Amino acid sequence: MRIGHIQLANRLFAAPMAGVTDRPFRQLCKRLGAGYAVSEMVTSRKDLWTSLKTSRRADHEGEAAPIAVQIAGTDAAMMGEAAAYNVDRGAQIIDINMGCPAKKVCNKWAGSALMKDEALALEIVEAVVAACAPRNVPVTLKMRTGWCASEKNAVRLARAAESAGIAMVAVHGRTREQGYGGDAEYDTVAAVKRAVSIPVVANGDIDSPQKARTVFAATGADAIMIGRAAQGRPWIFREIAHFLDTGEEAEPPRVADVKAWLIEHLGDHYRLHGEFTGVRSARKHIGWTLRGLPGGEAFRAEMNAIDSCEAQIEAVAAWFDALAESAPTMPTAPGAPTAATH
Ligand SMILES: Cc1cc2nc3c(=O)[nH]c(=O)nc-3n(C[C@H](O)[C@H](O)[C@H](O)COP(=O)(O)O)c2cc1C
Repeated sequence: MRIGHIQLANRLFAAPMAGVTDRPFRQLCKRLGAGYAVSEMVTSRKDLWTSLKTSRRADHEGEAAPIAVQIAGTDAAMMGEAAAYNVDRGAQIIDINMGCPAKKVCNKWAGSALMKDEALALEIVEAVVAACAPRNVPVTLKMRTGWCASEKNAVRLARAAESAGIAMVAVHGRTREQGYGGDAEYDTVAAVKRAVSIPVVANGDIDSPQKARTVFAATGADAIMIGRAAQGRPWIFREIAHFLDTGEEAEPPRVADVKAWLIEHLGDHYRLHGEFTGVRSARKHIGWTLRGLPGGEAFRAEMNAIDSCEAQIEAVAAWFDALAESAPTMPTAPGAPTAATH
């Protein structure tokens, strides 16, 4: 699997998720089997590039290659500049966000709203490709199946994007109108795959190794992308890899391993976000990891009162040690993926 000239480790991708897939989480996904992980979206608004939030999003220190940065916006020239800016700061691949349902950029709806305005969408694609081509940086596109059920234009847009120089397209099998409701469908993803010769990535509701195999078969996609099911369960990538390789389900991870991964993740998370923000934003990752586990809910409530890194790590370690005494391997799979919060 390649994106332009860049070879990837495998065909299992972590989806970009604002507020979730920061560098520490991407690193963890890559360590546990993801071949590729895209950053959270970075705005094309220049005045925000030096803000703490955006500069943390653009932090790639020590990240395993390839470094892929997603940009979002509605103005072609600004998107071209944003691409160049991020390439200068280490991006090896630029991804254009046309898949996110509700993100306001420059007081206009960006992301998947662009699918309604194909002319503007293409103008943006052309500007970003023009900024990246001289730097030998491939540009990819993430989109939905269309605007609404009666306007599924993913195939037309993917073809036009390919002609404009896009190197890969990822398709979430829902329309913009659907938000995260209903089920993802894969017929449109399959139609996109048949229509273009660049790699196509299938995304939406892939939450188990079996589902991964089904989606590969249904779409003929070159890769699959997993978002919510990786929250609190980043080892899903290696479980899928094992299943696709052997046809057998992997053993659940040992509680001691999950504890070690989580504690390492927390350390990395605090280093990026600092103590005040880090302790608070880490709570969601801890909560996702405990989802569905006996006593997890009670611990979650307790943890919300902790506000130092040291105490958070200690509490997490003690909780997992107690769990390991009764169950050496992770007792149950976590519950359903959480809905998008934006
Ligand atoms: C919390 C959250 C944040 C997201 N942020 C982004 C984003 O910044 N850019 C984007 O293209 N998609 C974003 N998405 C959409 C995901 O990349 C993905 O397309 C969607 O969740 C469907 O995949 P899944 O069913 O595997 O979660 C986000 C989704 C979630 C749940």
